[in-house]
Amino acid sequence: MFIAHSIEDLRAHLGRYDHPAFVPTMGNLHDGHLALVRQARPLGDVTVASIFVNRLQFLPHEDFDSYPRTWDADCAKLEAAGCDVLFAPRESDLYPVAQTCKVHPDPALADVLEGHFRPGFFIGVCTVVMKLFTCVFSEAKGKRTAVFGKKDYQQLMMIRHMVQQFALPIDIVGAETARAEDGLALSSRNGYLSAEERAEAVQLSLVLKALAATAKQGAFDLPSLEAEAMGKLRARGWNPDYITVRRQSDLQLPVAGEPMVVLGAARLGSTRLIDNLEI
Ligand code: PAF
Repeated sequence: MFIAHSIEDLRAHLGRYDHPAFVPTMGNLHDGHLALVRQARPLGDVTVASIFVNRLQFLPHEDFDSYPRTWDADCAKLEAAGCDVLFAPRESDLYPVAQTCKVHPDPALADVLEGHFRPGFFIGVCTVVMKLFTCVFSEAKGKRTAVFGKKDYQQLMMIRHMVQQFALPIDIVGAETARAEDGLALSSRNGYLSAEERAEAVQLSLVLKALAATAKQGAFDLPSLEAEAMGKLRARGWNPDYITVRRQSDLQLPVAGEPMVVLGAARLGSTRLIDNLEI
C-alpha cells in the first residue's frame, strides 16, 4: 500500500491510474470501514482511502483532541482489506492556511437533525470532502467513485446533493450499515462505551426498528410515536437528541406513499450514537 502524506505525492502517484475508487475516513477503523474498502475495490482501477481527523467538523466542546488516532492498526487493516493507496495528510498539508473558503450546503438539508444539534457540522464535512475529492480525483481520466456508509445517512445525502449541485463527475455509492451481532451499528465512537454501556447500546437500533415497523403499517400520529420512542430511551438512562421518521429523499416530514427512513441520535453516558433504518 502506497502512503502519501502530501497532496503532491498523492497526485504524482495517482497519475498512473484512470479511475480511482475512494473511501474517506477519519481513521480508528472498524469492520464497517473495511467493508466500504472492499465494496470500493471492484469499482475502480485503484482503491484509495484517506485518514484525516477533520477539525472543521467538530464543535469546540466535541472530541477532536481525544478522537482515537490508531495509525499502525489502521494501516494494517487497510492493507489487509486490499487498499492500494492511503492518503493521510497532516493538518498543515490539507489546511496550510486557515480554510476560509468553505462549502455551505443547503440549509434545508444541513440545518436539520444532525445539523441542528451540531451546528456547522455539515459545512465542515462538505468542505473537507470537496477538498479530498480534488486531491484524489484531479488526475483521474475515467469514472470516479466514492463510497460512503449509510450509517451517516444525512452525510451521504449532503454529499450526493453537493456532487449534483457542483456537477462533480463522481459516482457516490451508499453502502449498507455494518452491524455487530446484536444489531448495534458499527462506529468509531463505540470504543468509548463501557462494558455496561456496550450491552445497552443496541437499544437505539431496537427502538428504531420498533418505530419503523409501526410507521410501515401506516401510523398517522408519528409525533406521538417519536415522543414515545424517546421516552423509552430516556427511561433506560439515555439522553436522546431526536428519534424521527422522515422522507428518504430530503429528510423532510414524510409524505404518504414515499419511502421513509427512521433516524435517531442519543447520548449514552458521554457517548453520542446515531443510527437509522430505511423503511
Ligand atoms: O464519515 C466520516 O468519517 C467523515 O465525516 C468524513 C466523510 C471522512 C469527512 O471527514
